[in-house]
Amino acid sequence: MNYLEINSSKNIILAVTGGIAAYKSAILVRRLKDYGFHVRVVMTQGAQAFITPLTFQALSGNSVHTALLDSDAEAGMGHIELARWADLVLVAPASCNTIARCAHGLADDLLSTLYLATKAPVWIAPAMNQQMWAAKSTQRNLSILKADGVHIITPDSGAQACGDVGLGRMPEPEVIAEQVHAYFQQTQNTTSLGMLAGKRVAITAGPTREAIDPVRYISNQSTGKMGFALAEACYAAGAEVTLIAGPVCLSTPYGVKRKNVVSAADMLAQSMDALETGCDIFIATAAVADYRVDDIATQKIKKIGDTLDLELVKNPDIVATIAEQAQRPFMVGFAAETQHLEDYANGKLVNKKLDMIACNDVSRKDIGFASDDNAMVVFFAKKYAMPARTLEKAPKLEIAHALVESIAQALQTQA
Ligand SMILES: Cc1cc2nc3c(=O)[nH]c(=O)nc-3n(C[C@H](O)[C@H](O)[C@H](O)COP(=O)(O)O)c2cc1C
Repeated sequence: MNYLEINSSKNIILAVTGGIAAYKSAILVRRLKDYGFHVRVVMTQGAQAFITPLTFQALSGNSVHTALLDSDAEAGMGHIELARWADLVLVAPASCNTIARCAHGLADDLLSTLYLATKAPVWIAPAMNQQMWAAKSTQRNLSILKADGVHIITPDSGAQACGDVGLGRMPEPEVIAEQVHAYFQQTQNTTSLGMLAGKRVAITAGPTREAIDPVRYISNQSTGKMGFALAEACYAAGAEVTLIAGPVCLSTPYGVKRKNVVSAADMLAQSMDALETGCDIFIATAAVADYRVDDIATQKIKKIGDTLDLELVKNPDIVATIAEQAQRPFMVGFAAETQHLEDYANGKLVNKKLDMIACNDVSRKDIGFASDDNAMVVFFAKKYAMPARTLEKAPKLEIAHALVESIAQALQTQA
């Protein structure tokens, strides 16, 4: 079954509440429909002050539901019909008010009543001013919802419509739609389904930041997209996934446990922790800084001389350290090279005692770091007797699924 066949049997209720991010929900309808889902839209009264039902009617191709007391619905019970129709209820944006109301079981408008009446999974994408997000009551209400089984899509950080900067932005519609898509693929018959069932996977992703002084740091251009795509693909393949993420602006994929880190030392500590907790597969996609500043200044360094000397010392090699442990997991490394790809990749495979290495050519402008696409050549340790596999340019999530297949195949040869 291809993904369009799977998605075209799925019904999504997109519930829109009264937040400034409501404009993004119009694009979200489009993206969900691009993936083949059936979409019906529910709007709170607050939402209708930001965007009209007509927009959603035109985009979804269905009439929009705004009232609890709906005499047009069968037996006047629109909320029950909608609750039964849905395979997923996605509240995006989810306002502070709606979060509070759902957390406390109110049922005095269509959305809150639908929330109580549905058996479908409920996902919410909170979107609000950073102070409202940080408010104790909001965090308390979110913990209630989480404990009740609601999946919370972590908001992005950045500039907000109100002029503040911080956490609380609704992730881009493309990102949310992709997560919904991945969720349904994971529950259906896709090629990598079940391939990593029962496996515990730890993935490092993104850059590390090595402090120079309290305001400056050394880092690199890694965006973490490949690692996040792999986390999504591993989860979809049935694994329990821990994602050890450097500082990146990406939402946590559905079902994945995320640990945020800053420096290489933090990343190593969390990686060792994952190993101690139990890890069958370790995937190192992070672009870990090779060096850090030896003596981090405690005060901001002043612009005095024409030159500034920084003494750098080597950072711990996370992959090599993990590979040396007695409880060594299946090790997957990544190599971003600008030349002699195969030689460097094979060298790293042997030197770092890896089982598999995925190598990409970062000199190509159309793939790699900030791109949504990637292309790779995968090499395996000799004992697997597996030929190198070339993965042609494709979206990172597709590449991630292919890498999951390769990992599963290599593990199979040792079983
Ligand atoms: C211009 C404006 C922007 C707003 N943006 C947000 C927002 O982004 N997030 C939020 O939680 N509330 C926001 N609010 C407040 C909500 O609209 C308000 O709490 C409302 O009662 C939400 O109702 P609802 O949850 O039923 O849609 C905003 C209000 C105004 C006037």
